[in-house]
Amino acid sequence: MDLLVVGAGLFGLTVAERCATRLGLAVTVVDRRRHLGGNAFSDLDPATGIEVHRYGTHVFHTSNEAVWRYVNRFTEFTGYQHRVLSVHAGKIYSLPVNLGTMCAYFERVMTPDEARALIRSQTAADVDPTTLEGRAIASIGRPLYEAFVRHYTAKQWQTDPRNLPADVIGRLPVRYSFDNRYFADTYEGLPADGYGTWFERMVAHPAIEVRLGTDYFAHRTEFPADVPVVYTGALDRYFDYVHGALGWRTLDFEWRTEPTGDFQGAPVINYADPDVPFTRVHEFRHLHPERRHYPSGTTVIAREYSRFAGPQDEPYYPINSPADRAAVARYRELARAERRVLFGGRLGTYRYLDMHMAVASAMTLVDNAVSPLFGRG
Ligand code: FDA
Repeated sequence: MDLLVVGAGLFGLTVAERCATRLGLAVTVVDRRRHLGGNAFSDLDPATGIEVHRYGTHVFHTSNEAVWRYVNRFTEFTGYQHRVLSVHAGKIYSLPVNLGTMCAYFERVMTPDEARALIRSQTAADVDPTTLEGRAIASIGRPLYEAFVRHYTAKQWQTDPRNLPADVIGRLPVRYSFDNRYFADTYEGLPADGYGTWFERMVAHPAIEVRLGTDYFAHRTEFPADVPVVYTGALDRYFDYVHGALGWRTLDFEWRTEPTGDFQGAPVINYADPDVPFTRVHEFRHLHPERRHYPSGTTVIAREYSRFAGPQDEPYYPINSPADRAAVARYRELARAERRVLFGGRLGTYRYLDMHMAVASAMTLVDNAVSPLFGRG
């Protein structure tokens, strides 16, 4: 074995595949889960045959040509385009906020310029721009913020958005057109045969060995100490939480098989109001409308609930509080001092990464850090 990769998420898989194919290295990949692909994994629900995304809906999207060319070596993509709806006060609207949302919410037809003028008049000058609430109101005005962001965000964070820092969200997207696509990237789609099949193909190289159900820390002594490691597990765990545990939000999914061919008519519907305890409902059959063989009288849904992660929970989204940021800086210093361990991926860097970002940063790590280790710079 030339290289050990801890974590078979998209970051670890890309490192393993590149190192085996391009650098000719013998790579072992370990993951404590029993499947490849980390949070992006999907497979067929055994009872219905419907492809389900086990950790919530994952749509591949990118504007990075190199990433798009790379992922297309392993899978074809369907032409799926993601669109999201949000239920508020008994009515349904499209998200992110676009001209269609505004016309429906304010119950009148507006031109883009009329809508811009209206939103401008609703972006109160007296809000605190350092809070999430202030930033959101500056983007979409108070009425739309109250309807679609305030309670949804409070459900996600169990915190009033007035008390959340602005940088918890980026700039809220707002479109003064009827374009209601969720992502604005050049390329978008779903792997035609599912994520599980895509990821199997990434490790189909004879120089890659995969050990699933294997926690690195429980098996560490089985690996030669001088073999370089690419570590994509949790940064704080690697250093035994010496600077404290980093904060994450986790998700709980309530899975149901419903006796209908169509439960909600869309893949993802958000619930913006405080009296509904879940944040979204996923209905997986709608992600693959091209699969005509799906059963007509049954469907799989998952209701999504959000909360702060405890020590035993799966980490999903970094909280990034000021205390987290201070601890991360100290952990990164420790990570830099590790001679033969390279840290990457969302857990290893404590950063939210979309799938295409995980692939791109793994490719960069192979070129800039792994290749030189093996004299192949
Ligand atoms: P990832 O978490 O996938 O992999 C890390 C792996 O390391 C895991 O498999 C874990 O089991 C393993 N591991 C950890 N500790 C270990 C240990 N001690 N020993 C062995 N193994 C260990 N992105 C996108 O582009 N489009 C989308 O629609 C979505 N949707 C989405 C929804 C939700 C709810 C979330 C939380 C995230 C998304 N994403 C997304 C983001 C996407 O999931 C993310 O970019 C990738 O999963 C990141 O891949 P990584 O390999 O970095 O981490």
